[in-house]
Amino acid sequence: MTVKTMPVPVEGPDNSDRRAFDDILTIAIAKGRLQDQSIDLLEHAGVQIDRELLRSRKLTISDLTGAVRLVFVKPSDVPVYVEHGIADCGIVGRDVLLESEADLLQPLDLGIARCRIAVAALALRPIADLSVVRVATKYPRVALAHFGARGIPVEIIGLLGSVELAPVLGLSDCIVDLVETGQTLIENGLEIVEVITVSTGRFVVNRASYQLKSKMITPLISALRMTVDARER
Ligand code: PRP
Repeated sequence: MTVKTMPVPVEGPDNSDRRAFDDILTIAIAKGRLQDQSIDLLEHAGVQIDRELLRSRKLTISDLTGAVRLVFVKPSDVPVYVEHGIADCGIVGRDVLLESEADLLQPLDLGIARCRIAVAALALRPIADLSVVRVATKYPRVALAHFGARGIPVEIIGLLGSVELAPVLGLSDCIVDLVETGQTLIENGLEIVEVITVSTGRFVVNRASYQLKSKMITPLISALRMTVDARER
């Protein structure tokens, strides 16, 4: 018996969404200390954002023109979204970028959320004489590079937050952590031993997007640069 088959229309991938996204610039914003200042800068650079939407818990919002989409992610996830091209651009702290291996363009220092990355220890427990220093940190790469450059043997104890607790409870001899106002150190009896480097918010761009969406990205970078320069004057 022969079975006649009807040609079945083959459904290709539906590119309608993808095509739509080619005209949209997606910017990943680090939630937390950078978020408000990032929004502020973007608004000054001409991105029109509905403030009402910002008060919601939506993790992705569009600007009033629909040409820009903001996505709010954990700081350490910003380089991931941008490197994979899910977001074309991002705003994230240099502290995060120092720990990330993502291959990104970093065309602009936004100068916002200025912090220090520092070694800190309990005021009365110096670390200079220890043969191996136990370092609690969210920044293992930065810590290893810092102590490695000085030839000081360390044991890195990786933590994800409330790092100041580690020396207080005896988990570590010191910490390598972000210091903004210094209040958390003071209130936990710690003091800065050495400042390693400074961190500010950076504008990062996916390499392919930089070429493919240059008509949107280049003017945005220029507008952000003018805003940043005007503030620093
Ligand atoms: C950071 C950092 C310090 C604190 C420093 O923590 O790790 O704990 O801010 O700020 P200060 O100098 O103004 O006191 P974050 O707020 O990122 O939260 P965390 O506890 O999750 O690390």
